[in-house]
Amino acid sequence: MMVTKEFIEGLPKTELHLHIEGSLEPEQMFEFAKRNKVDLPFADVEEIRAAYQFSELQDFLDIYYQGMGVLLTEQDFYDLTWAYLKKVHSQNVIHVEIFFDPQGHTERGVPFDTVINGIYQALMDGEKKLGISFHLIMSFLRHLSEEDGFKTLEEALPHKDKIKAVGLDSSELGHPPSKFERLYARCREEGFLTVAHAGEEGPPEYVIEALDLLKIDRIDHGNRSLEDEALTIRIAKSGLALTVCPLSNYKLAGVTDMSRHPIRKMLDKGLKATVNSDDPAYFGGYMNENYMAIVDALKLSRDDVATLAKNGVEATFCTEAEKEKMMDQLESYLSK
Ligand code: ADE
Ligand code: ZN
Repeated sequence: MMVTKEFIEGLPKTELHLHIEGSLEPEQMFEFAKRNKVDLPFADVEEIRAAYQFSELQDFLDIYYQGMGVLLTEQDFYDLTWAYLKKVHSQNVIHVEIFFDPQGHTERGVPFDTVINGIYQALMDGEKKLGISFHLIMSFLRHLSEEDGFKTLEEALPHKDKIKAVGLDSSELGHPPSKFERLYARCREEGFLTVAHAGEEGPPEYVIEALDLLKIDRIDHGNRSLEDEALTIRIAKSGLALTVCPLSNYKLAGVTDMSRHPIRKMLDKGLKATVNSDDPAYFGGYMNENYMAIVDALKLSRDDVATLAKNGVEATFCTEAEKEKMMDQLESYLSK
């Protein structure tokens, strides 16, 4: 049966790879800049959108860090997160596991507490008022030192109850997982689950390091794992999930034609691939748009979409009972 836009829109979805700072829409950027009296190097929203032309990850990151410079107060972080939750609620997203980049803010003098309190309060309100359950993932910036990561971990410990997992993002090439082996060991001792961006731009060896040295519980992106057959088999056997971000890959990671997006191959190889939006304000779409992009280009069937959505439930960091509840909701939709 053909997969329609309406089918995707109604599908109960989870989002497991979303940088909250990457949900900052140009309109919001202007609004926050105005209220915080921050100068922006853009005259209007059109100029901002026109600047979103990236040929690689670093091009995007430069603009992403500049953009988040308008976020200063707890209210800003609350409003940013709340706007994201309202948006994905309208897309039938039922559970989110979102990243935040504390070092992108503490580096600019914004206190860690300001950042996490604003985000967390919005997530709590989203759970209560919109019915969206959540986990929060604190991401370390890999272009900074491991020592810097340790400092950030110290700041996070008083908020341990709010953080489910830690992650690793920013410029991948030249900053392999091995750089953070000790930091991740400490994080695991503190009881955090772990994930890491790996194989987005970096080679399969970085994915192997993330597995062996960081002992991650889920792989963010992981696309380049496919270049290594033994690694692909290993990941498939392990059941570890990949949080794949189709529109992000199209904008940044060398997928020049969506009909060549690797998610089809991932499913064929038995990898637990999921669909996510990464930085929706920068890459042209939230969850529905990401699903539609691959459905159209790869001619995915309803069964393929059902597999991706089920993977999205199984790959969450929820309890078995919580997963079962989400799976029931999904099954009930699929059987209609
Ligand atoms: N930070 C925000 N989005 C990112 C991405 N796609 N890769 C690495 N770091 C990021
Ligand atoms: Zn990402």
